[in-house]
Amino acid sequence: MASVTLRQVCKRYGSLEVIPGLDLQIEDREFVTLVGPSGCGKSTLLRMIAGLETISGGDAYIGDEKVNDTPPMHRDVAMVFQSYALYPHMTVADNMGFGLKLRRLAAQVIKEKIGTAAKTLNLSPYLARFPGQLSGGQRQRVAMGRAIVRNPRLFLFDEPLSNLDAQLRVQMRTEIKSLHRRLGSTSIYVTHDQIEAMTMADRIVVMNHGRIEQQGAPETLYDKPANMFVASFIGSPAMNFLKGVIADGQLRFENGSMLPLAEVAPPSLPATTGQAVVLGIRPERIDISFDHGGLAATIIEVEPTGLDTHVICDLAGQMVTVNQRHRFHATPGDRVYLRFDHEKLHCFDAEAGVALDM
Ligand SMILES: Nc1ncnc2c1ncn2[C@@H]1O[C@H](COP(=O)(O)OP(=O)(O)OP(=O)(O)O)[C@@H](O)[C@H]1O
Ligand SMILES: [Mg+2]
Repeated sequence: MASVTLRQVCKRYGSLEVIPGLDLQIEDREFVTLVGPSGCGKSTLLRMIAGLETISGGDAYIGDEKVNDTPPMHRDVAMVFQSYALYPHMTVADNMGFGLKLRRLAAQVIKEKIGTAAKTLNLSPYLARFPGQLSGGQRQRVAMGRAIVRNPRLFLFDEPLSNLDAQLRVQMRTEIKSLHRRLGSTSIYVTHDQIEAMTMADRIVVMNHGRIEQQGAPETLYDKPANMFVASFIGSPAMNFLKGVIADGQLRFENGSMLPLAEVAPPSLPATTGQAVVLGIRPERIDISFDHGGLAATIIEVEPTGLDTHVICDLAGQMVTVNQRHRFHATPGDRVYLRFDHEKLHCFDAEAGVALDM
């Protein structure tokens, strides 16, 4: 088992600085998901921890051991890549067992470990096939199996489920979580899927441009986003933002229209007259009705998802999405009324994008 400590770790490609100096502490047995937009440095960070990429500066530790110069095979880390990197000339079973064979485990032990992993991953019927004879999703599961059989002290996952269909993805998500509970190996998991990030993690780390924007338990990031970047990244559909200037008990928008602050601002608004702010409200914290009163809005589009209905409205010239738990039938152009849950309103500084204290 192992913790991971990064101290001012940076990565440069020539003059291009991809990660400018990052501190991160991951505890032994913790499951951390790493999220952020494409190109923000997630894979680079994982590859540096795995030893597949050199560190341009700073220090990396696995447990108490400084691993800056430790070759990958001596780190006892298993990585599942975005691309599966399977050996094309080896069968599924051989691909999965290769690492164990190198470690000179008995053939019978290897066979058992492969058998167990294959069962978990629904790969039992394919053990004799070659990667070229598998679908993308099956290959991805073989790559996962190769990591699982090794029982390493640290798992690094780089979008391991991105090629699976939706159903298998949900199933694998649960499998990986149970696996983590059983094995207890420290895990760092990169994903684009914020539901995956939320459901699997003890802690989410949100990255942007090689920096950490915020880290914390999934609920903390959802409830108390430190800035607009995190607020818009966590939660789906994304948080609504109303950008305006505070004036005489109103929020005045650029187009001149106004909304009463009492309706759209938190009870203890941490901002003053003349200040440019962004008020944030999650789609699921808005109540919509035809007759309950509140802020008058016009329906733009209604999108049923089965369980929820996403209703997109025009509110004083701003587009606002409402996530309605009930079935909601309306026609574009209909007049509706919105009520914001005052306890769940967020307020950000319009310039810096940081959350104002509430
Ligand atoms: N060998 C390289 N030389 C120069 N730049 C590189 C190299 N490898 C990666 N980069 C750059 O480093 C940045 C981070 O890349 P990285 O692959 O870590 O992003 P990512 O967060 O994993 O993105 P994605 O979600 O698309 O996988 C990108 O801007 C990329 O173009
Ligand atoms: Mg990547």
